[in-house]
Amino acid sequence: MTNYPRHLISIADITTEYWDLLYSRCRDIMSRPKDYSDAASDKIMASLFFEPSTRTQMSFQTAQLRLGGKLIGFSDPKMTSGAKGETLADTMRMFSAYADCIVMRNPYEGAALAASLYSDVPIINAGDGGHQHPTQTLTDLTTIAELRGEIGGLTVGICGDLKYGRTVHSLVSALINFPRINFVLISPPSLAMPEYITWLLDAKSVTWRTESSIEAVLPELDILYMTRIQRERMGDGASIVYPPEMILTAEKMTRAKSDLCVMHPLPRVTEIEPAVDADPRAVYFRQARYGMFIRMALLLEKQNLPRERSRYYEAATARHCPNPVCITRTNPYLPDRRSPGGFCEYCDTKI
Ligand code: CP
Repeated sequence: MTNYPRHLISIADITTEYWDLLYSRCRDIMSRPKDYSDAASDKIMASLFFEPSTRTQMSFQTAQLRLGGKLIGFSDPKMTSGAKGETLADTMRMFSAYADCIVMRNPYEGAALAASLYSDVPIINAGDGGHQHPTQTLTDLTTIAELRGEIGGLTVGICGDLKYGRTVHSLVSALINFPRINFVLISPPSLAMPEYITWLLDAKSVTWRTESSIEAVLPELDILYMTRIQRERMGDGASIVYPPEMILTAEKMTRAKSDLCVMHPLPRVTEIEPAVDADPRAVYFRQARYGMFIRMALLLEKQNLPRERSRYYEAATARHCPNPVCITRTNPYLPDRRSPGGFCEYCDTKI
């Protein structure tokens, strides 16, 4: 696999052609996993988790081990020299000197793009604050393709915290590239989808509407994608209660189609009652397992790319973004990058 973006920073890096290749490799891995058990035996993956994770961290690590590869990394940044003041840029220069690819989760939005400027090896964004989570989207696309047979002609309800839920930002950005997808965005107004995503929906002439209750829309949905409230990103809004009309119950499921797929990136908190788990339409634990296989396909491709010397060694200034959790706020040496629409290229906030 060649000629695809070197790093996986946002879901925009996954073209339709690249998705087809990754998914095809993923299917091959699922059908004959033993044939891949030595495929990355000379590769080292760096797993850098500056923020808590169960699925993403462990599925990447398991994916690498199932490919016969090796690991370095951390899940407690307080035990690294970042705690002594080392910059993200220098940390990336170091890990890219040791490993063949870097999987990073970071609480600052745009951290993955910033890291890619200083890394000689591919960066895979495992979640940057409330911004993007592209490998969760690969997981979600794999789940839909496996369970529905194709990705297209679907009414997709996305429910919960659409403001801070990075998985839904990446998912919507991906699904708009597939045919005949309609969206129903179900959230309280205070947790509505950010402008840069609704702007994308309008730019692509995708049909979408907002709703405030699951029950009213459930009968028309093919996919219901549930999300939790991302309290850790809310500061003083953290006392918000999950609205009862957005909680999925076994009783509400009686109104749904027989082939509905209920998905969730997990962790689940209170938004799906445990009684739903026994329903065969609840596919969120299968979804997490698909994530391991598509990450194996991704790691195989990224770890085989040749090293490439990073470009940014000069000090620069990027104190331009109004977003208080943009990576430029804590790493002000970063180069100033703005997209033509007037958005910060690191975190997509309107400047
Ligand atoms: N879906 C997901 O990103 O889960 P973790 O936060 O546990 O990695």
